[in-house]
Parts: sequence; structure tokens; C-alpha cells
Amino acid sequence: MSRPWVTLKLATSLDGRIATAAGESRWITGQASREQVHRLRAEHDAVLVGINTAIRDDAELTVRLPDYTGKQPARVVLDTHQRLPLESRLAQTTGLGPVLLITAVVTPSEALTEAGVRVLHAPAREVGVDVGVLMDILQQEGIQRVFVEGGGRVAASFVKAGCVDRVEWFRAPMILGGEGKAAIGELHVEGLPQAFRLRRVAVETVGDDLWERYERPL
Ligand SMILES: NC(=O)c1ccc[n+]([C@@H]2O[C@H](COP(=O)([O-])OP(=O)(O)OC[C@H]3O[C@@H](n4cnc5c(N)ncnc54)[C@H](OP(=O)(O)O)[C@@H]3O)[C@@H](O)[C@H]2O)c1
Repeated sequence: MSRPWVTLKLATSLDGRIATAAGESRWITGQASREQVHRLRAEHDAVLVGINTAIRDDAELTVRLPDYTGKQPARVVLDTHQRLPLESRLAQTTGLGPVLLITAVVTPSEALTEAGVRVLHAPAREVGVDVGVLMDILQQEGIQRVFVEGGGRVAASFVKAGCVDRVEWFRAPMILGGEGKAAIGELHVEGLPQAFRLRRVAVETVGDDLWERYERPL
């Protein structure tokens, strides 16, 4: 494969919502699922999120496990307009491992660069930055395995670009309703033959949650 391997992680309610309408997502899934997510992060070279998630959740996106001494994955933010706040956990923790910000702005923000964030350019598309160019950038950075942690718009972009190889879906026994944020944003699927289909490879219980694992069919 000439692009990095992409795993999409979803942590949802039973009805496939990743957050309430107001954007609250902590915590939908339980502690055991969250620990498993840290193990999955550790198996990847980079963890990637969209700027809305970076701002709303303000997560560090590092591997935090009691016995973990391995390398920290790079953290990648898709941020068309360089909106990542300087005071965000990502910008404040560049010492823990690389933080890459992919933006359509040609001139990198001096403040973010000084904070240790690597600002890299990709052209803008209808939604955000070009996923194909992003894949080339990650490849050039030596990133072979990417763990996409959302949100819904970023997940949709990866599905639309045909860049999802595996799905790790943690589903909590909770119902949030249609006004909650969908795990995958709009795809404009014209009919069922055009839907992105997957092959389920495993199902496990993790605490009170269900962990479903899917792969792209061969
Ligand atoms: N339950 C969970 O596991 C989980 C995980 C993650 C997030 N969440 C929740 O999801 C919500 C955020 O999701 P969201 O869908 O609103 O936003 P998102 O996917 O985090 O970010 C989307 C934004 O990223 C930027 N972007 C740049 N390039 C992009 C591209 N190629 N494709 C898509 N977006 C790109 C765009 O903003 P600009 O044009 O301004 O750059 C876009 O609006 C939050 O409430 C968060 O708490 C839940």
C-alpha cells in the first residue's frame, strides 16, 4: 500500500452518537474501553483528530498506561485555519512527542511553531484539508499507521477518501438520540450499493461496553 494504514476509532452510544448536541462526549464509554483505546494508540505511529475535537475535548492524545515505556505516537491535528489554541494541551505538550498541525494556511503561525508544533501545509478542499495530500505528508514523515480518533467530520472525510482500513468501535449501553453528534458525518451516499461496507473480524465485551472490530473487505 502506498499510503499509511488507517484505523478509525469510534466510541459511541448504542445509537451511534459520539457526543450530545452540545458536544459533550466525556465519558460515553467506560474505563475499560478507554484503557483499550490507549493500548490501540500504542500500536500506531500517529493519533489524528480534527480541530473541533482538539478544541472541544482538549485532550493530550498520548498513551497513558501504567506499564507503558514505549514511544509516544505523533499527534496530528487537521486545522485548515490554524485555530489550535496556544494554551491547548496539544500545544503545551510538544515535549512529550511530535505534534503536527496540517493547515491550508501557507505561512505557519510563529506562535505555534515556537511552541514546538510542526505546522505543515496541505491544500484546502470542500471540507478541510486534502486527505490525499495529508496521506503523502504522513508517509514522508515515516508514519505508517494512523489512529483516527474523530470527530464525525474527520471520520467522514477518511471514509469518503477511501482511506479507512480498520474500524475499532466501542459501543456503550446508552442512547443519546438523533440530536446527538453522529459518529460519521455526511457521506452523501446515493444508494446502498455505494455504501462503504466492512467485514466484522471480532466482537468482545469490555466492561459494560461492546468492542466491535471491522476490516475493509479484501
Ligand atoms: N466519542 C468519541 O470518541 C469522540 C471522539 C472525537 C470527537 N468527539 C466529539 O466530536 C465533536 C467534534 O466532531 P466534529 O465532527 O464537529 O469535528 P472534528 O471532526 O473534530 O473536526 C472537524 C473540523 O476539522 C477541520 N478539518 C480540516 N481538515 C479536515 C478534513 N479533511 N475533514 C474533516 N475536517 C477537517 C475542519 O475545520 P476547519 O475548516 O476550521 O479546519 C472541520 O470542521 C466534539 O463534540 C467531540 O467531543 C467524540
